[in-house]
Amino acid sequence: MPTFTFEQIRGVAVQVFAALGCPPDEAEIVGDALARANLAGHDSHGIIRVEQYARLVKEGSIVPGGPTTTERETACTALLDGGWNFGQVVARRAVELGIRKAREFGSGTISVKQSNHLGRLGEYTLMAAQEGMLCTATVNNHGRGNLVAPFGGSDGRLATNPISFACPGPDRPIVVDITTSVVAEGKVRILKNAGKQAPEGWLIDSNGNPTTNPQDLYGPPPGAILPFGGAVGHKGFALSVMVDILSGALSGAGCSHSSTCRLGNAMFFHILDPEKFVTRDEYDHWVSTLQTHIKGSPPAPGFSEILMPGEPEFRTEDRRRRDGIPVDDVTWQQFKACAAGIGVQFEL
Ligand SMILES: NC(=O)c1ccc[n+]([C@@H]2O[C@H](COP(=O)([O-])OP(=O)(O)OC[C@H]3O[C@@H](n4cnc5c(N)ncnc54)[C@H](O)[C@@H]3O)[C@@H](O)[C@H]2O)c1
Repeated sequence: MPTFTFEQIRGVAVQVFAALGCPPDEAEIVGDALARANLAGHDSHGIIRVEQYARLVKEGSIVPGGPTTTERETACTALLDGGWNFGQVVARRAVELGIRKAREFGSGTISVKQSNHLGRLGEYTLMAAQEGMLCTATVNNHGRGNLVAPFGGSDGRLATNPISFACPGPDRPIVVDITTSVVAEGKVRILKNAGKQAPEGWLIDSNGNPTTNPQDLYGPPPGAILPFGGAVGHKGFALSVMVDILSGALSGAGCSHSSTCRLGNAMFFHILDPEKFVTRDEYDHWVSTLQTHIKGSPPAPGFSEILMPGEPEFRTEDRRRRDGIPVDDVTWQQFKACAAGIGVQFEL
């Protein structure tokens, strides 16, 4: 399995997006976001996506350089149209706007339609937390809902509908970034590429029966991913319903309703400035107290310590910056073939 530095992965990804027609600053944003996903250990949202994005650009589904326009705006809210540009570009613009509004008025809520896949949602809540803000974010698949079964259902009716929260923490930001399904679809794809079985409790086949074969998700006929929670999957399902409404109904992009409508990410960002509520010292005191209290729990059998949400990714980032980022052979061959297909030459 080849191993690369963050800068190497970022560099070749930026080259590919520039060759696909992204303006230079946008190629940097998309390449950087994918390389950061690999750095954080979420390889399902790293350069494995390049081949898919290149195909979507060729099909006209992604419009590199597409303008972001404001459809409606108040002091604290905005509805943006992303011009079907890369989600990474549109999300960054939305969060920048939300931070500006929160800094001035206390909160900024930004809803976005007509945007493509933004990759890791936590990238954007973290961006707000690094500016001292608290951020909640959700996306659905812009009305496409055919991957995740509702609790008690036997076929895919929802998207994986992730939700992310981030806030400033005592050492590093605290970042929650989770799908409301048991797992992100990309992680099933990685297992399928590797010829491995999925863990029990992730998938059902097209008849609604439990399966561990990743191919059963894709069919034909397709199966589905289960909502998170196992025996209490009603909780993951309940969250997914609200994520769908916040993302799809508020933006006008549409809630999950079809298996064939144009795929994208409708987005919802709610950003708060804590200093419009309490002093920075009070906020820091309470978050720090909470973290110390939680981490004081004696580890249960099989655990060596308590980690805060976001800590696993920061630790993986530290390790991968030191030791390099491993990329599985199938993903690397696909990436090289995709780059060659659009005339990008590189030596690594
Ligand atoms: N754009 C899209 O349409 C889309 C759709 C689905 C998923 N995604 C992305 O896929 C990624 C993966 O999602 P996932 O649900 O598979 O991730 P996951 O199951 O790995 O959960 C990640 C979250 O759990 C926390 N965590 C993990 N282990 C922990 C531990 N031991 N202690 C404390 N906290 C811990 C992490 O810090 C993180 O906040 C996310 O970045 C998500 O945004 C994007």
